[in-house]
Amino acid sequence: MRVRVLGSAAGGGAPQWNCACAVCASATSDRTQDTVAVSGDGIAWYLINAGPDIRTQILRTPELRAGPGLRQTPLRGVLLTTAELDHTLGLLCLREAVRLSVYATPAVGAALAAAFPLRPMLAQYTDLEWLELPAELELDGGLRVRRLTVGSKRPRYAGTARLPADSGQEWVSALRLTDARSGSSFVHATCLPAWTDAFDAFVDGADEVLLDGTFATGDEFPGARRMGHLPMTESRPHLARHPHTRFRFGHLNNTNPSTGDDIVADGQEILHG
Ligand code: MLT
Ligand code: MN
Ligand code: ZN
Repeated sequence: MRVRVLGSAAGGGAPQWNCACAVCASATSDRTQDTVAVSGDGIAWYLINAGPDIRTQILRTPELRAGPGLRQTPLRGVLLTTAELDHTLGLLCLREAVRLSVYATPAVGAALAAAFPLRPMLAQYTDLEWLELPAELELDGGLRVRRLTVGSKRPRYAGTARLPADSGQEWVSALRLTDARSGSSFVHATCLPAWTDAFDAFVDGADEVLLDGTFATGDEFPGARRMGHLPMTESRPHLARHPHTRFRFGHLNNTNPSTGDDIVADGQEILHG
């Protein structure tokens, strides 16, 4: 399995275009918005989320460039872990696709049909295949996916929207991908509101985990903004229970000044094996 971080920032990127804070002013790298590429065989690739920087991210990644056929692309689909704008605006930037397969929970699908009607819009541009992201799923290239609901926070744009009653509350997911051949496993959890027992069991035995690095500490941002993102100071104490798993942090907000080996960068391959 191969896992490459295409974008390592939270919504707005880092630096953020309208921010002159110390972190943004002193940034030495450009973090684009949270998107990860995964493949079981190095041929069929999937995106976990599609941020608004997706075009640049794809062009910067040799494995994702088009070819050899005229309209051939290694991208087989997109798995959405939330309906947030920083995870979904990139779908509109993929509208040139001949065909686009998107996996989403019913809640995420409903938000993108009704509150922000990206789905019907996109269907006018490409052959859109909208699929449910179930508890278990098999992807091309030998990847198995398990999904865990980790949060029920709606995106702000869908805060009061009326959605079909049967669309449920599966708003925020963590994904565990396993390569059927090598047995290696990767957990994606860049939006993690709390470290529950269910999440602890979900990461148990994984080789690599990409965690929520939105906030370094709990006092970085006042009140509501912080909701839905466990600060790094509160997730770090849990890591000692999993000594054989490598944990790193992505989805950094522009307020997060963290540096170090466990902070991912754009373009970084975090698993190959
Ligand atoms: C989040 O991760 O909480 C959202 O993407 C915030 C946002 O709207 O940018
Ligand atoms: Mn986000
Ligand atoms: Zn800033």
